[in-house]
Amino acid sequence: MCGQSSSHWSGLHYFAWRYNSEIILTFVVEDNSLNTVRRNDGGDRPISIIFDRDLRWRTGVKLIPVDSESSNNFKVTREALEKAYEMAKRDNIKVKGLLITNPSNPLGTMLDRETLRSIVRFINEKNIHLVCDEIYAATVFSQPEFISIAEIVQEDIECNLNLVHIVYSLSKDMGFPGLRVGIIYSYNDAVVSCARKMSSFGLVSSQTQYMIASMLSDDEFVGKFIRESKTRMAARHRVFTDGLAQASINCLRTSNAGLFLWMDLRGLLKEKTFEAEMALWRVIIHEVKLNVSPGCSFHCTEPGWFRVCIANMDDQTMEVALSRIRTFVNKDVDTKKPKRTLRWQGSLKLSSPRIYDDFINSPHSPLPQSPLVLARN
Ligand SMILES: Cc1ncc(COP(=O)(O)O)c(C=O)c1O
Repeated sequence: MCGQSSSHWSGLHYFAWRYNSEIILTFVVEDNSLNTVRRNDGGDRPISIIFDRDLRWRTGVKLIPVDSESSNNFKVTREALEKAYEMAKRDNIKVKGLLITNPSNPLGTMLDRETLRSIVRFINEKNIHLVCDEIYAATVFSQPEFISIAEIVQEDIECNLNLVHIVYSLSKDMGFPGLRVGIIYSYNDAVVSCARKMSSFGLVSSQTQYMIASMLSDDEFVGKFIRESKTRMAARHRVFTDGLAQASINCLRTSNAGLFLWMDLRGLLKEKTFEAEMALWRVIIHEVKLNVSPGCSFHCTEPGWFRVCIANMDDQTMEVALSRIRTFVNKDVDTKKPKRTLRWQGSLKLSSPRIYDDFINSPHSPLPQSPLVLARN
């Protein structure tokens, strides 16, 4: 049974949270935007994930991806966890924790109850910490329902609660990324105490606190907002996947959360390599003028997957995006050919001339607004 322990909320920026560990395992695919870093396999390629930025850059922890694959809809398996753990051990790295994002960015999928239980068993057997990023918890727009790790650890399952920590923020569910309000929910008093101290370096302003407190205490408003947001996301998801299907493009079918789609462009690759994926990405960004993120930027192990953010544009812009994708696919663009002038290029206006640099340099927020915002054809 889980040990009895008090739990606490501690409001602070993610960055203020310092994890006393050498290494954290991460679920293979998590977040957005790009930055180039060198991976162990020696290849230079854009990898984006927020965990790289938030956890590696300041603290120096090492991250080992836990691989997953499309054959089982990118599930997190016990075998993959063991493999990553053993690999770390072989490299003389002491694993201190496992970091998961549930619902997943970029997959838009949720961890089912059995997987969550298996994760809890895994971290208890290894005696390592479990950090669950549940930032997309209220974006789930269809069945199955979201299951928090907090629910699993209350079940009749062997678990040292001191090992379990949840992170959350208002950025996604409430659409407030700019307010920089994040939360740590930990069952571990030492972590909470440390987080409280560290939060001094990233305090949420009193004005923000006042506004958030009054907003969150209005249950009716919050309930209505989240319901409306889910309804809109469900509709957007449906229209976008249907639109892509017209161009014979599939998306990960098990996705029912998040603000994005996991698009399968494996059929458009010249060959099954990450170089080909990058070549395709360059065509998409420079010629089709769409800002999508290649799978390699999320440590995806299969070339050809791309994340498409679908929530940050109006309906008209979405139609423009879809029609560009359809035109592009129908023309069967050869990614190896020299740059071609496409029909829409003359009239396209990008919202930011720094799009490419931002995309590469910022591992977090790709752009202040979608490059599609000013495009009308
Ligand atoms: C999985 C995940 N965690 C955390 C964050 C951080 O969000 P913020 O810093 O805006 O609260 C993001 C943002 O993209 C995310 O996708």
